[in-house]
Amino acid sequence: MAYLNDNYLKLKAGYLFPEIGRRVKAFCEANPEAAKRLIRCGIGDVTEPLPPAVIAQMHKAVDEMASRETFHGYGPEQGYEWLRAAIAKNDFRDRGLDVADDEIFVSDGSKCDCGSILDILGDKNKIAISDPVYPVYVDTNVMAGHTGPANDAGAYGKIVYLPCRASNGFIPEPPKRHVDLIYLCSPNNPTGAVANRPQLEAWVKYALEHKAIILFDAAYEAYISPDASGIPHSIYEIPGARECAIEFRSFSKNGGFTGVRCAFTVVPKSLNAFTKAGEAKPLHPLWSRRMTTKFNGASYIVQRAAEALYSAEGKAQVKSLIEHYLGNAEVLRKGAKKAGLKVFGGQNAPYIWVRTPKGVTSWQAFDKILGEANVVITPGSGFGSKGEGYFRISAFNSRANAEEVARRLPELKW
Ligand code: MLT
Repeated sequence: MAYLNDNYLKLKAGYLFPEIGRRVKAFCEANPEAAKRLIRCGIGDVTEPLPPAVIAQMHKAVDEMASRETFHGYGPEQGYEWLRAAIAKNDFRDRGLDVADDEIFVSDGSKCDCGSILDILGDKNKIAISDPVYPVYVDTNVMAGHTGPANDAGAYGKIVYLPCRASNGFIPEPPKRHVDLIYLCSPNNPTGAVANRPQLEAWVKYALEHKAIILFDAAYEAYISPDASGIPHSIYEIPGARECAIEFRSFSKNGGFTGVRCAFTVVPKSLNAFTKAGEAKPLHPLWSRRMTTKFNGASYIVQRAAEALYSAEGKAQVKSLIEHYLGNAEVLRKGAKKAGLKVFGGQNAPYIWVRTPKGVTSWQAFDKILGEANVVITPGSGFGSKGEGYFRISAFNSRANAEEVARRLPELKW
């Protein structure tokens, strides 16, 4: 008899985005005319083409693969040295942050890294997760058996939920109780909130005092406007973070790599976790061991593509992509406000977090906006119980679509 992983049976419903996809497909099949004017602002998937610098570099890399002399087979599991060096220099050292090339681990996506990191962390950790939250943090802990079953509200036993509400600006405060692992995401998915320096300082202080580890998801870092002062781009801007934090970054939302797949994780060599006997051990060699055993590296072509994002042209092209999506966010914010809705986020972030009208649940708002405006949004309750009464609009779209959504939203009669 082969046994399954019972933990999977604890998972509530399907993963949020496939579930939305199923509902939208059913709606389109039943309403072919409405389907023609459908605009998708649900999943945060980029819409604009890859930067020309990336395309040029990918073509070159493909050509290299065509010749025995320049062909590349397996690469280093942690990433090619030239990419790790470009990342560490441009994203960290040039900003005065102490991150070494070999503390960068290149992968095929941040979602995978956020889940895989649990391989090297123990199963007795008390885990703190924001509510609402990117569902991957919760579901991967459920799969790994770190939680109890879910209650009727969908909250899993053993997880310490950190409520994010308008009253705390959707940024969680450190809890009064002890936790060992803390997931933080800034700029935040789904709320679009950004943590400022004092807020992150409080978390680093807490983590150091509790010998806890912060899993810091900075996938949307590029959306922090250059004029936004006091908003850290990296957790390593906070003194002490090298002793208590792992940072996840992605090329999906800056370089438009959702379909290319490349990301990286920073594991400082000074970061320790503890054995059951209480002995401190560095996590860096464990993550390296994990990567060499379970991963064969992102492809050569993809890593060359990522390297192109750090060229002068690449940086300028990323900047204009970000400006495009942030411009959409502004258009959508204005549209939702004009509709009389209360709007959060969408500044320094590509997500707009919108309060539903009084008495309307997140899924009711989803159905109404889909059915009447033919726009797909994401129901806030899909991100956690504290997301109930909200919905998220993604700014990843063409400008014309963003403008059309901003025009349609105020036409809805609630
Ligand atoms: C989202 O819509 O929340 C994101 O696309 C999810 C992701 O990046 O995996």
